[in-house]
Amino acid sequence: MEIALLLSKEHSTLPRAEVDAVMDCEGVKYHLKMEQEGLLILDIPHKNPEDLERVIERLSYTHEVFQILLQVDENDLLTEAEKYPWDEIVSSSYAVRVKKMDKKSKLNTSKLEWDLGGIIKSRVSDQVRVNLENPSTFLRVVLKDGQAIAGNQIGKISKKHFFNLKPHKRPFFYPGSMSPKLARCMVNLTRIKKGQALLDPFCGTGGILIEAGMVGARVIGTDIDYKMVNGTKKNLEHCGISNYQVFQEDARKLELPHKVDAIVTDPPYGISASTRGEKSHDLYHQAMKSLQGLIKEDGLLCLATPHYLDLDEILAGTKFKIIEQHHIRMHKSLTRVISLLSLV
Ligand SMILES: C[S@@+](CC[C@H](N)C(=O)[O-])C[C@H]1O[C@@H](n2cnc3c(N)ncnc32)[C@H](O)[C@@H]1O
Repeated sequence: MEIALLLSKEHSTLPRAEVDAVMDCEGVKYHLKMEQEGLLILDIPHKNPEDLERVIERLSYTHEVFQILLQVDENDLLTEAEKYPWDEIVSSSYAVRVKKMDKKSKLNTSKLEWDLGGIIKSRVSDQVRVNLENPSTFLRVVLKDGQAIAGNQIGKISKKHFFNLKPHKRPFFYPGSMSPKLARCMVNLTRIKKGQALLDPFCGTGGILIEAGMVGARVIGTDIDYKMVNGTKKNLEHCGISNYQVFQEDARKLELPHKVDAIVTDPPYGISASTRGEKSHDLYHQAMKSLQGLIKEDGLLCLATPHYLDLDEILAGTKFKIIEQHHIRMHKSLTRVISLLSLV
């Protein structure tokens, strides 16, 4: 089957990288059919609905996923829709929503929704109703580049989750906490699987651990500051995550009884988060030296750093190498660099 993913336009590379990573770790194989700004079309040869459901549940930088039913020139959409067996797709109720993804389309979206809705009505049983609030079948049409792509929505990423878990809405808050969306994406980039162990050695208020816990990882968090340790525990409990181990430790001296499957972390930038007087560069270098012994050989580490730190220099003399990087402009004087590292 072919699916379309409507990606967030918040960032140019992270949404696609996140899709790749989650598909990979959930074992869903695909061929890329089309990639345009905000839209990804994939062909999935062996469909297993549960695998795809798990993928959709994990994503943070994707808005919506639908199974493609028609992909035609936008001027032919209604003619093709007349021929489509809608009774095989639409069950008890339906809604049609059209979204223009660029300025090329001359079509009126409300009129198209009305016309398509009418065609579907004439092809399904009398019991089937239009339900704009909570339809059993949600038909999405996107207009992009003169094409109309119509499909049956199979997943929508809940904005509520990322909104309700914003750092200031948790019981313990401290400035410098990472947004839940980015934290989830970083967790996903490591391809961590349910039941595997993920470590954040600079856990702060626990934002990364919350997202890792929500995708089913066993989470281990440490921080040099006991206030953060207690705060992280509170926040994890608040989010219903009980499979955790959180304790006070300096990331440069950390030891664990077992190696972890992934590390995701956001060390202090030397601005708002405390570095305890240590220069960021030295702190990062020493921490990386200690972390290289704590991660399994095939494990991945996802790290957020400020642009002014030279990661190549930080990693020199460690066993880590950079395999992927994404730059997020925060404001005029700060760009965050998200790096995915593996052991050499
Ligand atoms: C940028 S904050 C982490 C924010 C976190 N991602 C969140 O969402 O809340 C960095 C954390 O590193 C901790 N820290 C500073 N030096 C440390 C060290 N040597 N070892 C462990 N933690 C340290 C600070 O106490 C702070 O909580």
